[in-house]
Amino acid sequence: DEALGVAVLGMGNVGTEVVRIMHEHADELRQRIGRALELRGVAVRDPHRHRGIPAELLTTDPAALIARPDVDLVVEVIGGIDPARRLILAALCAGKSVVTANKALLADYTGELAAAAENHRADLYFEAAVAGAIPVVRPLIQSLSGDRVHRVTGIVNGTSNFILSAMDHSGASYTEMLAEAQRLGFAEADPSADVEGFDGAAKAAILASLAFHTRVTANVVYREGMSRITAAEFRTAAELDCTVKMLAVSERVDAGPGEPGPGEGGKERVSVRVHPALIPRTHPLAGVDGAFNAVVVEAQNAGRLMFYGQGAGGAPTASAVMGDLVMAARNKVYGGRAPRESVYAELPIAPIGDA
Ligand code: HSE
Repeated sequence: DEALGVAVLGMGNVGTEVVRIMHEHADELRQRIGRALELRGVAVRDPHRHRGIPAELLTTDPAALIARPDVDLVVEVIGGIDPARRLILAALCAGKSVVTANKALLADYTGELAAAAENHRADLYFEAAVAGAIPVVRPLIQSLSGDRVHRVTGIVNGTSNFILSAMDHSGASYTEMLAEAQRLGFAEADPSADVEGFDGAAKAAILASLAFHTRVTANVVYREGMSRITAAEFRTAAELDCTVKMLAVSERVDAGPGEPGPGEGGKERVSVRVHPALIPRTHPLAGVDGAFNAVVVEAQNAGRLMFYGQGAGGAPTASAVMGDLVMAARNKVYGGRAPRESVYAELPIAPIGDA
């Protein structure tokens, strides 16, 4: 059977691993999908920096690559809003399915992107946008869609957790651990996104939107960074048998007295926040160290679920991208469609003082 053509946009830590896995596991992927995946091109900024890729596959024109008739599936791992947003819309409008790891984009434009996918019968998958290798998007959209989620609490930024764990265990300094996180490829191009909580806020917005079937954008997430935490604070935490973690918390809260909201019960709101928090050493999130992430979901009937694993780095994030790529490819072969996020309630955002 004819192969499915794949375009990869971006060749950073994640894109490099996606291309490697597609090449290394080509036979297995073909068996699982029923047709081969063939890399048609890789869009990069500077073709001279990617000597491991055959020169004829490299292009600096992502729009032309997407438009090629032999491209069926598009992997976007450039990051940031534009040009990623424009390119994804172009792909979806051409009926091509898109797999993206772009948390900043998903946090603010899910509605627009989902509508484009819907109107053009294309798929949009984004498991890799939150917590790297850890499956948490799909469980929220699919497995828990018959339950009622009350709270999602997570450590969703590997870089800040890596720095905090090192400060806690070895008394290492903030600056030296940040440099190490950059060297290991966890940190964002601009690491202030990690340590000031912008990256966590984008992920919290995505998690809250999926968990509560509402629209939460990153700008409404309460956000506090970790850059002012000192060794002295860790000593105080230790005396209390606690540690300090950057938490991303999304929860349903009741509206204040006399403040009706349009939630299911008539007075519900959501609170979404990212900040350093003192947590007891016995808390399940206290043992999440290094660049690991974990997400605890509390639902009415399921009770408490915990998802744990590698939340940053090229290969773990590429694992989630590949899972989505296989799903999108199978849909092309067998005529399936991606599950859509269902937005059925516009819940108001609670001011942080209420939380
Ligand atoms: N910079 C991010 C982190 C990468 O440290 O978690 C994964 O989104």
